[in-house]
Amino acid sequence: MRITTIATPVVLAIALFTTFVTAQAPSPPAAAYSWADSCRSCHQSIYNAWAKTKHATALDRLSGGDQEKECIGCHVTGPKSRVSEGGKVLNRGVQCEQCHGAAAAHAADPTVKTGLIKLPGSAGCEQCHNDKGPHFKGFWFDAMKSLVHKTT
Ligand code: HEC
Ligand code: HEC
Ligand code: HEC
Ligand code: HEC
Repeated sequence: MRITTIATPVVLAIALFTTFVTAQAPSPPAAAYSWADSCRSCHQSIYNAWAKTKHATALDRLSGGDQEKECIGCHVTGPKSRVSEGGKVLNRGVQCEQCHGAAAAHAADPTVKTGLIKLPGSAGCEQCHNDKGPHFKGFWFDAMKSLVHKTT
């Protein structure tokens, strides 16, 4: 009896984890994100470098009509539709948390690093950089990762 009550959650956790890593994981809910502006005060130079890249303005490439289509999924952060507040699209473009994981908890308390992805790998990039996008030009992680932002 005792073994069952302990083993069941463990088996469930392993099953859930396997599903999570093998299937295309759904994005965490919008509330788990705190969006790029909130990272700025502590990660100033990275923020400034990122803000000059096309990732920061990727939503602007889409017309209003195309933003209503599935196009938007690869041109925003997190949930694959607009997350708006007071007329502002909070998840516009490819922001920090698209690559580093939803980080509201870390932004509130920087000692919290749970769920933070320190060095994002190629697989996350290839969720968007693939031939499902109509403008795909090929993707080479080692050549392209240094264009994302400087790290010092
Ligand atoms: C209040 C300050 C603060 C805010 C706000 C903040 N960070 Fe951090 N962040 C830190 C500190 C301090 C570290 C640790 C630096 C170190 O150990 O070298 C860190 C480390 C990191 C790391 C590396 C993780 C690791 O394991 O070392 C990432 C990635 C990161 N932050 C992303 C973000 C993102 C994304 C945001 C915005 C959503 C954000 N941070 C907001 C202070 C902050
Ligand atoms: C398109 C994906 C992407 C975006 C957007 C992005 N990063 Fe990164 N970030 C990376 C990659 C990849 C690395 C690791 C580079 C390497 O391996 O040399 C990195 C490295 C870092 C590190 C250094 C971790 C360490 O300790 O070495 C921090 C901190 C960080 N990013 C914070 C941010 C913040 C803050 C933003 C937004 C202003 C941001 N990143 C936007 C992909 C991204
Ligand atoms: C959420 C989707 C998404 C993810 C994830 C993503 N990208 Fe992108 N990336 C885009 C889009 C969309 C553009 C084109 C933006 C534009 O042209 O306005 C782009 C453009 C770029 C560019 C050209 C940037 C410039 O300023 O010229 C580079 C380099 C790049 N991505 C590298 C990466 C790397 C490396 C990763 C992973 C660490 C990554 N991307 C993750 C969607 C994504
Ligand atoms: C699977 C993810 C994905 C989808 C879906 C997607 N895009 Fe993109 N889009 C990207 C990436 C990644 C880039 C950067 C191109 C590259 O460097 O390969 C990009 C770049 C662009 C650009 C800039 C093109 C250029 O040559 O600079 C435009 C415009 C654009 N996309 C429009 C759209 C439209 C319209 C749709 C829907 C019909 C769409 N995208 C759907 C990922 C996607």
